[in-house]
Amino acid sequence: MQVWNLGRLVAPAVAMFILAFGLLILPSGAQEASGSNPTAQAVNEQQLLDELNKIQGRVSIPDGKAATLQQPQGRDYRGFHEGALPWIGGIAILGMLLLLALFYFFRGRIRTLAGESGIRILRFNAIERLAHWTTAAAFIVLAITGLNFIFGKRLLMPLIGPEAFSTWSVWAKYAHDFVAWAFMLGVLVILVAWVWDNLPDRYDANWLKTGGGMFDKSNRTHPPAARFNTGQKLIFWAVVLGGIALSATGILMLFPFSFADVNGMQMAQYVHATVGVLMIAVIIAHIYIGTLGMEGAYDAMGSGTVDLNWAKEHHSVWVAKEQAKAEPKVPPRARPEPAE
Ligand code: HEM
Repeated sequence: MQVWNLGRLVAPAVAMFILAFGLLILPSGAQEASGSNPTAQAVNEQQLLDELNKIQGRVSIPDGKAATLQQPQGRDYRGFHEGALPWIGGIAILGMLLLLALFYFFRGRIRTLAGESGIRILRFNAIERLAHWTTAAAFIVLAITGLNFIFGKRLLMPLIGPEAFSTWSVWAKYAHDFVAWAFMLGVLVILVAWVWDNLPDRYDANWLKTGGGMFDKSNRTHPPAARFNTGQKLIFWAVVLGGIALSATGILMLFPFSFADVNGMQMAQYVHATVGVLMIAVIIAHIYIGTLGMEGAYDAMGSGTVDLNWAKEHHSVWVAKEQAKAEPKVPPRARPEPAE
């Protein structure tokens, strides 16, 4: 019995040793087969990869994936992660910050032309605000910890040193994996709560044509809009569709190789990382317009109420409907009794 147990321990170790040995000797054998010079000088990984395209051996352990040490798609992915991705992320995020700074500089804050009326109307109820702030808080944690995967090693590690960076990165990864569930739930609630108000309507074409009045420095252009204007609808669909893409690819990565092979895993990472950085750029624009960019906008998600004049200028069709709903119902006039 004991001998059998020992065998169970030793067998995988022997298998690993044979695999490692096999992979070590593979280069010289491969070189001979391809006819190149097998001297120590000529043996380098890149040359072998160029000739063979992959390094693969044989294993007797249950995990067959271990037989492939390198494959072409893996190198493509590494190239993307180390090269294209930081550029896409950097250009999208810094580009958006620059655009917003220019917009603020030339346009200034969007003001409520009529000033405050003192009358407030409810724009978002407590459940809507809870869903929004849960999603927002989760997204900010995911954005910071996600950017650490892309830029941390290059930008943060030289500043705080490898040990602090390693401790922070371990916690960042845990946070990314667990907070993701709050984000997914938040996106689901937002979708259910606001989907009807974000379907296209007859005011969209005109809103787009006038740029939503955003470029009129006099603050006089106010194209009619229902509960959400076209710009907000675009943010909503970016959050919902981007959120679904991030969630689906994120789940593939939370359970590695359970639903996808190595190529599927790599594809999930391409999509996840690219959608993630683009969505961060979009949300930066959203945060700008909800705070600094437009007077009175923050209240809608802060207290849940907005000033009537703000609502009339930015969501005239919605205000008209709300006021119609609030008007006291006039009882139907009593039917005149027929004369006796
Ligand atoms: C943390 C900073 C954020 C602030 C200050 C902020 C502010 C706001 C405000 C004021 C509104 C209401 C606009 C209105 O009255 O119509 C709003 C709506 C909304 N927010 Fe945020 N938000 C933030 C983050 C986020 C994040 C991270 C997400 C999603 C990932 C998000 C998704 C939405 C969506 C889908 C809407 C409805 C559509 C729209 O108004 O664009 N928000 N937000």
